[in-house]
Amino acid sequence: MPNRIVTLDEFIIKSQKDFHFATGELTALLRDIGVAAKIVNREVNRAGLVNILGVHGAENSSGESVQKLDMYANDKLIECLSGSGECCGIASEENEDFVPLKAIESKNAKYVVLFDPLDGSSNIDVNVSVGTIFSIYRRISPDDGPCKLEDFLQKGVEQIAAGYVIYGTSTILVYTTGHGVNGFTLDPSIGEFCLSHRNIQIPKTGQYYSINQGYYSKFDLEMRRYVDNCSDENLRLRYIGTMVADIHRILFQGGIFLYPSTRKYPDGKLRLLYECNPMSFIMEQAGGKSINTRLQRIMDIKPTELHQRASIVIGSPQMVDEMKAFVERYSASPVLS
Ligand code: AHG
Ligand code: MN
Ligand code: MN
Repeated sequence: MPNRIVTLDEFIIKSQKDFHFATGELTALLRDIGVAAKIVNREVNRAGLVNILGVHGAENSSGESVQKLDMYANDKLIECLSGSGECCGIASEENEDFVPLKAIESKNAKYVVLFDPLDGSSNIDVNVSVGTIFSIYRRISPDDGPCKLEDFLQKGVEQIAAGYVIYGTSTILVYTTGHGVNGFTLDPSIGEFCLSHRNIQIPKTGQYYSINQGYYSKFDLEMRRYVDNCSDENLRLRYIGTMVADIHRILFQGGIFLYPSTRKYPDGKLRLLYECNPMSFIMEQAGGKSINTRLQRIMDIKPTELHQRASIVIGSPQMVDEMKAFVERYSASPVLS
């Protein structure tokens, strides 16, 4: 007999006892994010049909051009989270500042949610996978007032939950609350995310490396040598340019993803709060590792600003360890340095 379908909502409710604060609040919050993901998915799928493509005109707070679908996803996430009553504020890659949310029925909401509403936006108009990334923290400011910046500037280790949605050949939501990682595939015929990948474990090592090798000449010397080494080892290069999609491959097939410092982005390009921390939480929960190119654990970095960037090296544990050992050896070598 085939296994019974377990929907995301059912799974979240059944797992409620695993949460630090088993009051149902986080359960409601995750459910609302699931709803927002379905709405964004619908729009991503229609992107070729409706006049929603193209650059929106404005630049986002990191100075990059914003496409309409980014704003649509941003608005939908804020809308769904405002209605939840469990979220006292959000911070998004698309908003310069954090946005406090109004309390519903004077309820003291305890959580803040941070997100990259549409990851891989340069891939939208060429029909290549894009994603959404989210990260949830319990607020640290008193819960009878508005949220504060300090609620958002917490270390990644403080995350209560994190996840991503990949809008790919199928739409999959992957999340963790610190008790392993599970994946849910959207069944469009019933409009539900169904449990499809239980307790995801990344392979200890793999065949893939993922890096924008076009910036090779802009990498530090040890990074260039590391990339040469990947090639010498006959690793296969895959780079989609959507972090969610590149990491999704590595999570399932094993490998390493790197976005190191470049001349243009001395601290790396990806954002610590919206991209690196949530992906690191998922990766570590799946048995992987995540560090920056200074070899510090990503989730131990204390953020000082909302749009802070970080270099990142993330993936199969053995491959991250090997990369670390390579850089340490290389930097220590008087002949090579
Ligand atoms: P976003 O679309 O949210 O701005 O993110 C794009 C990011 C990430 O998804 C990807 O890994 C990286 O930018 C690609 O950057 P390069 O084109 O510099 O390689
Ligand atoms: Mn992104
Ligand atoms: Mn984005």
